[in-house]
Amino acid sequence: MSNSVLILNGPNLNMLGTREPEHYGQDTLSQIEDRCRKLGAELGWEIDFRQSNNEGELVTWVQEATHVHQAIILNAGAYTHTSIAIHDALKASGVSVIEVHLSNIFQREEFRHTSYISGLADGVICGFGGVGYELALRTLAVKK
Ligand code: DQA
Repeated sequence: MSNSVLILNGPNLNMLGTREPEHYGQDTLSQIEDRCRKLGAELGWEIDFRQSNNEGELVTWVQEATHVHQAIILNAGAYTHTSIAIHDALKASGVSVIEVHLSNIFQREEFRHTSYISGLADGVICGFGGVGYELALRTLAVKK
């Protein structure tokens, strides 16, 4: 299998930079992507970085990850708290997952405290802004 990591971003994450900067910071998603690609090159990971506002598209991408990607770094946005479909796709894919959130979801509204992904994830990183994606990549490099 290739040394490829799939980084998936869910709904509204295309709005980073202008969206609620008090929660999500000032970085745009493309700035986060650039940093992931740079770090990925250093660590020997090929990075496949995607965003979708569509639950079904995320499900399809998770399904397609089997035997293609070593791991998925997943910020499913609001689908984290609602999507049994993404949960089921992750379970079926057998690909290891690291869950990432820019904000500390446990300091926020009660409905954000539930995740349909955490129970399947190797680990969860939240509250460190865009750096969380880089921490996830570094964790994968240690496990390599
Ligand atoms: C988020 C947290 C979610 O609760 C929210 O719906 C998002 C972003 C985060 O990165 O902090 O869209 O996943």
